[in-house]
Amino acid sequence: MSFNNTQLQRLADEALNTGKACNGGANADYIPFLASVPSDLCAVSISCCDGTIIHSGDYDYCFALESISKVCSMSLAMQQKGAEQVREKIGAEPTGLPFNSVMALTVHQDKPLTPLVNAGAMSTVSFLDASDKESRWQMILDFQRKMMSQNVKLSNDVNTSEQETNFHNRAIAWLLYAAGNCFSDPMDACEVYTRQCSTLVSCDDLATLGGTLANGGINPVTKEKVIDPENVAPILAEMTMEGMYDYSGDWAFLVGLPSKSGVGGGVVAIVPGKMAIAGFSPPLDEAGNSVRAMAMIRYIANNLNLSVYSPS
Ligand code: DON
Repeated sequence: MSFNNTQLQRLADEALNTGKACNGGANADYIPFLASVPSDLCAVSISCCDGTIIHSGDYDYCFALESISKVCSMSLAMQQKGAEQVREKIGAEPTGLPFNSVMALTVHQDKPLTPLVNAGAMSTVSFLDASDKESRWQMILDFQRKMMSQNVKLSNDVNTSEQETNFHNRAIAWLLYAAGNCFSDPMDACEVYTRQCSTLVSCDDLATLGGTLANGGINPVTKEKVIDPENVAPILAEMTMEGMYDYSGDWAFLVGLPSKSGVGGGVVAIVPGKMAIAGFSPPLDEAGNSVRAMAMIRYIANNLNLSVYSPS
């Protein structure tokens, strides 16, 4: 199936209306900053492999990347160590439990199972080749910028809000360390992980992150080769299994696209070889996924029959 930009713009506008009509969910409030973001913000952006970006709504409002940053660090770890090392050391299984679950660690001998939950993301950060905390952080920020744009920047407000309240993640980092699954100082890993969650991106940036994966590892806007093609399928497989947390199975059933959500309200879905669709709106469901972003992505994916499991 081929798409033209007029058709995609019409679908983006319709998707925005569909999203705005969804009233469920609530802003994340365990991070004080996120509770203060206006709940009615709503945007959808499509990044096509030719570099075109189609968008509707508040597409240039910048929001916290949060857990979607886990995709960038996982990709960077695969670039440095190879995909198989990431699978072996961290994992490629769904946990079937919330993104910050200690029980998931307990029942799996403190192995995080996937780079896409908090435990696995801190383990991934600690696994990167870096001599100290600041160089570990800088390489992650650089990689986020390569996958998205140079506009990506750390928000001191978000970061401070998270660093002052991340006691649960600190406990997880120590559990990982005790079991030999944190490969740097655990508090450094937790602090850098918290910073990577605290960068601000627009919905267009988020679509470009997905576009880089849809386009075989080449950023469709800058044309820079960011990820080796052999790492793209393992990244998308990890996203399929855990990208939407304990809603990942339903999401595969209903939409059929490797995706990732963040508690800042962003969701990005990849259509390999074609495009990426990003949605943003702060209210979340119980699993921590943006209600409106999911509705908008689902609207476009279903209309264009984009599921990777679809025979046509
Ligand atoms: O560590 C946390 O809890 C947050 N910085 C990120 C969690 C998150 O985005 C989960 N995604 N839906």
